[in-house]
Amino acid sequence: MKNIIAIYPGSFDPVTNGHLDLIHRGSKLFDKLIVAIAQNLDKGESLFSMAERKEMLEAMTEELDNVSVDTFEGLLVNYCIQKNANAVLRGIRAISDYEFELQMALMNRKMEPRVETIFMMPAQQYSYLSSRIVREIAKLGGALDGLVPEMVEQRVRDRVARKHISATGKHLL
Ligand code: PNS
Repeated sequence: MKNIIAIYPGSFDPVTNGHLDLIHRGSKLFDKLIVAIAQNLDKGESLFSMAERKEMLEAMTEELDNVSVDTFEGLLVNYCIQKNANAVLRGIRAISDYEFELQMALMNRKMEPRVETIFMMPAQQYSYLSSRIVREIAKLGGALDGLVPEMVEQRVRDRVARKHISATGKHLL
């Protein structure tokens, strides 16, 4: 069997239990899995810096020997070649993810035919979960248990509260 090095790219702002579910599945399938945090230019202000996201992902994956965490800038396909990776791992939750994921996978293939995109489904209980929803629930004071690891939950709450104070001068309710 070929040696498969896969890249799992994303924003991970913050890492969710859905991401971790996919990382565990990927680590069983691939020889090596690199979780790669992208500098995402389109998404506006982020909750956590790249270094903070990396630190949280490292803490959450430290028991997985074939998983490492990295950051990258620029095109994903260029990063794949730089890392000798032959696969990109992406999660598909619902049919609504499919159109964007298909566009990205086909465009990446056009730019770099040596890299295949592999889609995996997270466990069903994470099919409605996203980092964006986690950020929104945290801002509005909702419960995050079961959505992100405990350590991440605390950091999300602290960061959201700090951002709220610096934007409004008031404490979150
Ligand atoms: O977690 P996200 O935000 O859905 O991840 C999107 C990501 C980072 C995988 C995507 O935006 C990406 O690959 N960015 C790197 C720049 C790039 O290669 N863009 C062209 C994609 S066809």
